[in-house]
Amino acid sequence: MSEQTIDDLVRVDALVKTFPLRNAWGRTTGTVRAVDGVDLTIRRGETLALVGESGSGKSTLGRSILQMDEPTSGTVTYDGVDLTSLPRSRRAPYHRSMQVIFQDPFSSLNPHRTALQNVMEPLTVLAPGGDSRAQAIEALAAVGIDGDAVHRRPRAFSGGQRQRIVIARAIAVRPGFVVCDEPLSALDMSIQAQVTDLLLRLQRELELTYLFISHDLSVVREIATRTAVMNRGRIVELGPTAEVFASPQHAYTRHLLDAALSIDPVQARRRLERISTRPDLVGLEPEGTVLTEVSPGHFVLR
Ligand SMILES: Nc1ncnc2c1ncn2[C@@H]1O[C@H](COP(=O)(O)OP(=O)(O)OP(=O)(O)O)[C@@H](O)[C@H]1O
Ligand SMILES: [Mg+2]
Repeated sequence: MSEQTIDDLVRVDALVKTFPLRNAWGRTTGTVRAVDGVDLTIRRGETLALVGESGSGKSTLGRSILQMDEPTSGTVTYDGVDLTSLPRSRRAPYHRSMQVIFQDPFSSLNPHRTALQNVMEPLTVLAPGGDSRAQAIEALAAVGIDGDAVHRRPRAFSGGQRQRIVIARAIAVRPGFVVCDEPLSALDMSIQAQVTDLLLRLQRELELTYLFISHDLSVVREIATRTAVMNRGRIVELGPTAEVFASPQHAYTRHLLDAALSIDPVQARRRLERISTRPDLVGLEPEGTVLTEVSPGHFVLR
């Protein structure tokens, strides 16, 4: 892929993450290559969507970029600094700059603490010395939670409001980069559009860069600047979203789009989750070895 430019906030080179494969007795019987040699750049201010079937390695790639999973090999560079060779003791600023929003707001919030306490917690750890209470109140207000509501516990909120609290907690520390891992999947359809709008508004106001992992290709088509398609740990296609959707070049991308866009979103999600068991796709190993530029900015594994 191309050389890093100052427009690239995140750069991933030859990234590999393996996990031991264990049998029912816990004995190691091999390794899973969850991320299998990924090269990728994420540009400042963009939303890069990451799509692919269940188990293709999307979350592992996101977690490896954030150093939540220690990469097996390869490098992750953030704002010009190679995080993979940085001693742990010097990683703290990056734990603040790089945040994550997971699918399930229930498990990401502490149920025994109020909304305000939940948002204050990372501030006191990652940005000590500031007025964490005022910053948390400001972040909660930015997502539409204010007044006495900030003193309620997660259970007292609706699913959409809980996800807003999770988003407030992520932005309160003023990150530059946020991995959104299926941030809408646990929400009702009617709430998804509101939370999507919120994420887009915060991105503009706070100049955030997003890695947006999603099964919902209709949302991806609407909000992503570029889209990367992942299959069995590899990126098989990457390009401007409109172009990838209008003119998919890799066979796997075409299968994914056919499966997802021809039917309603709920069914599409189930089909995407099951796609790895479809006999016609099981044999579809990522073809090729090199991401090759087929038109400006549009790369395909060839
Ligand atoms: N902690 C782990 N230990 C062992 N194997 C893991 C671990 N995390 C992920 N894997 C394996 O790595 C592969 C990729 O998983 P990952 O969760 O990254 O996929 P995904 O694309 O995010 O899937 P989904 O769409 O279902 O969230 C899978 O085979 C999974 O079983
Ligand atoms: Mg996942």
